[in-house]
Amino acid sequence: MTALEPMNALAAPATDHPQWIWRNGELTGWRDATIHVNAVGHASVAAVFEGAKAYRAADGERLLVFRLDEHLRRLYQSARICRLNLPFDVDRLRTAVLELLRANEYTEDAYLRPWAFPRGLIREQMVPAGADCEVVIDSWRFRSGLSGTRGVTAAVSSWLRISDASTPPRVKAFSNYHNGRLALMEARENGHDWPIMLNARHQVSEGPGACVALVRDGQVITPSISSGVLESITRDTALTLLGELGVPVAEREVDRSELYLADELFFMGTAWEILPVTKVDGLIVGDGSPGPVATALAARYQEVVRGTGGHPDWLTEVAF
Ligand SMILES: Cc1ncc(COP(=O)(O)O)c(C=O)c1O
Repeated sequence: MTALEPMNALAAPATDHPQWIWRNGELTGWRDATIHVNAVGHASVAAVFEGAKAYRAADGERLLVFRLDEHLRRLYQSARICRLNLPFDVDRLRTAVLELLRANEYTEDAYLRPWAFPRGLIREQMVPAGADCEVVIDSWRFRSGLSGTRGVTAAVSSWLRISDASTPPRVKAFSNYHNGRLALMEARENGHDWPIMLNARHQVSEGPGACVALVRDGQVITPSISSGVLESITRDTALTLLGELGVPVAEREVDRSELYLADELFFMGTAWEILPVTKVDGLIVGDGSPGPVATALAARYQEVVRGTGGHPDWLTEVAF
């Protein structure tokens, strides 16, 4: 098996760390951002997080954080379902993200990871409802894949996606990634890049870190939000941009065998951006290269995140 690539496959190596982490209201030096070993373990089960990106604007003069408010709102939604108390409001976390990007003097694309975890030494297996939380924001540089024409291979996993009836996939909790990790290890073991998981109804759900869509006869089809998927901000962005491009879209249940008849297949997520799939379960998708719809969508996405494609309401500016 190949070593597991991080979800954010184009991330800078972990040794390339920023000077500052934001922690509980303050910029904290990288080396000082530590906790006692007893604070991991059961506490991690209840931890929720977000993944957002700041792109360097095409004019080269500022960073643009993409859909920051939507990401922060989703962090609060995850916390609400997990009954965690975040001691900061959205306004404070928005300011914190901007403070952090400035403090670390980013002038290139940067990935942002806000997260919240129960404070203190948790020895109980079940972190009680209403537990106080620490809130941390980490960041690192990443290399966008939007300009490239890369494609990946995928395979339907034998591991089913977690369901709303047990472990809601709309919660972005670290513990949910146990499910995606099992599927990813299986896919790598079998020589594929990424898994696509089916839900409890054996319909298509999503990948371990991104939603999926297929193109058939000119229409983009993506599993509905109640198919066992995260309420993805990229998915929402893609559906809006595809509408603007005049491509018809449908959100509905998707059968596994539809993947095999697709003209195009692609993942969509903050980390993976728009990532074409060129082979699924050993079958070549389309002509085996990224197709026209995914390519046009990636180009349009790139314009928007870099500030030349409209939707200024999706962009939070950080001047250099
Ligand atoms: C399981 C899963 N699905 C989908 C997504 C895509 O969500 P978004 O577009 O909001 O990044 C992610 C990424 O965070 C994810 O982890």
